[in-house]
Amino acid sequence: MTVLVTGSRGRVASTLLGMLDTAGIKARAGSKNPADLSPPPGVDTVRCDLADPATFDAALDGADSVFLYAEATHAEAFADRARAAGVEHVVLLSSSSVLAPDAEENPIAASHLTAERALSAAAEAGAFRATHLRPGAFATNTLQWVHSLRDGRGPALPHPDTYGDPIHERDVAEAAFAVLTEPRLRGSSYLLTGPESLTFVEQLAILAEVTGRPAPHTVVTPEQWKDSVAAYLPEAFADALLSYWAAHDGRPTPVTRTVEELTGHPARTFAQWVADHEEAFRP
Ligand SMILES: NC(=O)c1ccc[n+]([C@@H]2O[C@H](COP(=O)([O-])OP(=O)(O)OC[C@H]3O[C@@H](n4cnc5c(N)ncnc54)[C@H](OP(=O)(O)O)[C@@H]3O)[C@@H](O)[C@H]2O)c1
Repeated sequence: MTVLVTGSRGRVASTLLGMLDTAGIKARAGSKNPADLSPPPGVDTVRCDLADPATFDAALDGADSVFLYAEATHAEAFADRARAAGVEHVVLLSSSSVLAPDAEENPIAASHLTAERALSAAAEAGAFRATHLRPGAFATNTLQWVHSLRDGRGPALPHPDTYGDPIHERDVAEAAFAVLTEPRLRGSSYLLTGPESLTFVEQLAILAEVTGRPAPHTVVTPEQWKDSVAAYLPEAFADALLSYWAAHDGRPTPVTRTVEELTGHPARTFAQWVADHEEAFRP
């Protein structure tokens, strides 16, 4: 078995590469910038830019399985080249946002939906099996709070009581490992969440408890928040996030046991995630 892992500079992909290597499974680390990679010794690297279909054939050559990030624009071309290369199974890192009622209009959800549909269409045509991993909010999103916490102010939140289901990147990578290596798990969609639904305020309280340092926040209006991110976040994405946070404000998100079913252990808690990343939050 040879697995092409795309987006290998990513947190989930790089974690997955380590797991495949430890298990003795041949993996190839694909990245837009393979020179930046430091994969486990013996793992080959290849240029695989999901925004550049000209890189697909060489990256896919000899691979029978793929771990794929959801880049919507060329997902159809990727599926086509994967079929031509004789790939048997593609595991897509999708998102739980595809299940939202407004998924078609929400740009974050829509891009994942487009990638899912391209792979599902190829799978239905007999090209390969397609498996969709649909995680909820990554615990790593809270790394965006690092600078403001170091400043002592904490994040400025328009919806501090919005619930999320923060999931550890290691659990996402382990779920990917399970579906890549266990044939009976192929061809389904898996909704992955952390083990508990927590508001941003509750996540900050856990951060404070685990790091032993205060983790305050301020409350801003949605318009103030949009202004503060306008320089780097496209307006449509900012609106999509605001709409998601408003929809989950004060409403706990349902959590699943899918991580446990796939990996054999309960999903890691947010407190565990903070303990694993404590260094990132040091002043
Ligand atoms: N955040 C969430 O709450 C959430 C929820 C559900 C689903 N997801 C999905 O998960 C994805 C993020 O996964 P992740 O956390 O593993 O990814 P990540 O670490 O944010 O990296 C995403 C991609 O960016 C490139 N990259 C990584 N580090 C880089 C660097 N230092 N400089 C330049 N490019 C870099 C990598 O591709 P190359 O190596 O090819 O450049 C990588 O695959 C999202 O895009 C989304 O599809 C996220």
